[in-house]
Order: sequence, then C-alpha cells, then structure tokens
Amino acid sequence: MNQVFLVLYLVKKMTAIYSPSEDSYLLSGILKEQLPKLLQKNPDLKFLEIGAGSGIHLETAFNLGIKKENIFSSDINSDSVNHCNLLGFNCIQSDLFENIKDKFNLIIFNPPYLPEDKNEPKDSKIITTGGKKGNEIIIKFLKQAKNYLKKDGKIFLITSSLTGRINFFDFDYKVKEIGCEKLFFERLCVWELIS
Ligand SMILES: C[S@@+](CC[C@H](N)C(=O)[O-])C[C@H]1O[C@@H](n2cnc3c(N)ncnc32)[C@H](O)[C@@H]1O
Repeated sequence: MNQVFLVLYLVKKMTAIYSPSEDSYLLSGILKEQLPKLLQKNPDLKFLEIGAGSGIHLETAFNLGIKKENIFSSDINSDSVNHCNLLGFNCIQSDLFENIKDKFNLIIFNPPYLPEDKNEPKDSKIITTGGKKGNEIIIKFLKQAKNYLKKDGKIFLITSSLTGRINFFDFDYKVKEIGCEKLFFERLCVWELIS
C-alpha cells in the first residue's frame, strides 16, 4: 500500500514539471543555431535560464560547449529546481530574478505565456498561464531582465500569438524575431532582445 502511495506521489511530482513541448523544441533549435556563434565570440559566455523546467535547455547549452560552471538556472517550481540539480546543474528557486545576483551574457526564458483559463488546474497553471491576458509574467520579466545583462548581453524570449499585447520598445529593448513556428491554434516566436 505504501508503495502505491509512493508511486502516486512520484507521478504527481513528475506532472508538476513541464514536459518539453513545441515551444521548448523551438527554443532548443534557436540555441543550436545561435550558441556556436556566440561561443566563438566569447568562449566564457555566462548563461542563465529563467524557468528551467525539465532542464532541456541546460543540457543543450552544456552539449553545445558552455562550461558547466557558467550555466545558471532558476525556476519558481521547487520540483523543477530539484530535478535540474539532480541533472547536475546549478538551479535555484526564484520568482523571476528575485534570488539572482549576477549578470549574464545570455538569458533565456520560455515563459508561461497563455491567458488564464479558469478551468485549468492550479499546478499546471503556474507552468502555462502568464496572468489574465498571458502577458503579465513576461512584462515583469522585461522590466527586471535588463539589470541582469552584461554589456552586449542578449535575451532569447518566447511569446505566442495568444499572449496579450507586449511592446518591447516600452521597456527600451532592441528587438529581432529570430524564429517562429505556426502550430494548429497559435504562432510561437522567439525574440532576441538587446538592452
Ligand atoms: C513553459 S515552461 C518552460 C520550461 C522549459 N524551460 C522548457 O522550455 O521546456 C515555463 C517554466 O517557467 C516556470 N515559471 C513560471 N513562473 C515563473 C516565475 N515567476 N519565475 C521563474 N520561473 C517561472 C515554470 O515553473 C516552468 O518550469
């Protein structure tokens, strides 16, 4: 009986971590395209992922040659943090930049970007819902992120066509679309932002 509870507990824990999906694979593809160029310019590149989830991008960053000691990450979800630590990465629990102290050459974020769906369970909401219009967490991120960029640092950020309006210029970023994907019900884009 105890074993049944243990299995149920572990399954519940596992579902609380975002499983890599189309948005993750889009960002992964961008990292594979962009990181070799960035590493050529700066082999000592310092990398931060906000909202690391399953750690998919930490693995990619490491496999592409970023030194492990230069890979930093965080998540608001303690299960993701524990999971990424078990994978051997430096990951701390933090609401956006709350517990981040340093500055980085590259910050990436595949945020919760969907508008609130009242029927969605609470534990999956924290992974997918970016507030009432879907843009609240992104806007908070944009206000904070520039303070954590080194000179010439960049941000790669995902948004969806379902996300409420975001004007990057309001936050003084130079912006370039570096990859998009059309899905059945939405279009996802990765933006490169420079402060
Ligand atoms: C869409 S998932 C992306 C996970 C992973 N990076 C990927 O691409 O597969 C969003 C992640 O952001 C985390 N998250 C949500 N709100 C956050 C916040 N305020 N600060 C830090 N992480 C947050 C979630 O727990 C989740 O792991």
